[in-house]
Amino acid sequence: MAIFTAAEAAAQLILKRTQLRPHIGLVLGSGLGSFADSLTDAARIPYAEIPEFPRSTAIGHTGKMVIGKSGDVPVAAMQGRVHLYEGYSPHQVAFPMRVFARMGIRSVILTNAAGGINGNFQQGALVLISDHINLQGTNPLVGPNDDRFGVRFPDMTRAYSREYREIARDEGRRLGMTLHEGVYAAMLGPSYETPAEINFLRIIGADLVGMSTVNEVIAARHMKMNVLAISCVTNMAAGILDQPLSHQEVMETGERVKSSFEALLRAVLPRLERAVP
Ligand code: HPA
Repeated sequence: MAIFTAAEAAAQLILKRTQLRPHIGLVLGSGLGSFADSLTDAARIPYAEIPEFPRSTAIGHTGKMVIGKSGDVPVAAMQGRVHLYEGYSPHQVAFPMRVFARMGIRSVILTNAAGGINGNFQQGALVLISDHINLQGTNPLVGPNDDRFGVRFPDMTRAYSREYREIARDEGRRLGMTLHEGVYAAMLGPSYETPAEINFLRIIGADLVGMSTVNEVIAARHMKMNVLAISCVTNMAAGILDQPLSHQEVMETGERVKSSFEALLRAVLPRLERAVP
């Protein structure tokens, strides 16, 4: 089925389950999914019930779309996402953004767990992504362009909204949190990087490394959605510290910063809602 038609069908199914009509979509990454549990008046839809919706296989990814309210702000929150390393195509990875758009969502907040490359970051730091380097060797817009979504060659110069980053920084300050800013390098995974690869990423200007987010951002920008992306530095990247990396460490750090992360999301949402064009 054409992506547009499939996204439309999925959006219709989701909207039938709720009276809410959110303008903001959220993607909650590894260990960060519990924010969706706090949403009120919520409809919770397992991905398995949404036609064509890819299902996450990663540990720490629940696999539910939750439409609910954070305070007064209606949001559509994805508890878990899929990754290229699971064997999904870039089109499948980006499909939820297509569904969001067909639901009437105009802005997305993407969150992820990332390795810290920049020596100023510490484990547990929250970082606003200012730009990305796509090293996944693919792109969700490969193939015929569907003009109903956007243009063939979409601009990526301001992929990560400066206005949204300012709002997040402002709210972070109000909450007494230090929010960093940095460039996210996306790798295919699922193996973590070698120290030599991390050195290469540092030299080419990356502050963070991860295995997600960029396909979603590219598809979101294709449709002119506004993007705010926040990384949680769950570990320092390979070779930065003299110790091996583990998925358990990634999950544990996510768990540790969960409450400040959720407080930031709660504070940012009403301001984004007002700023949505
Ligand atoms: N590398 C890639 N992806 C990651 C990392 C990392 O160090 N930590 C969390 N996701």
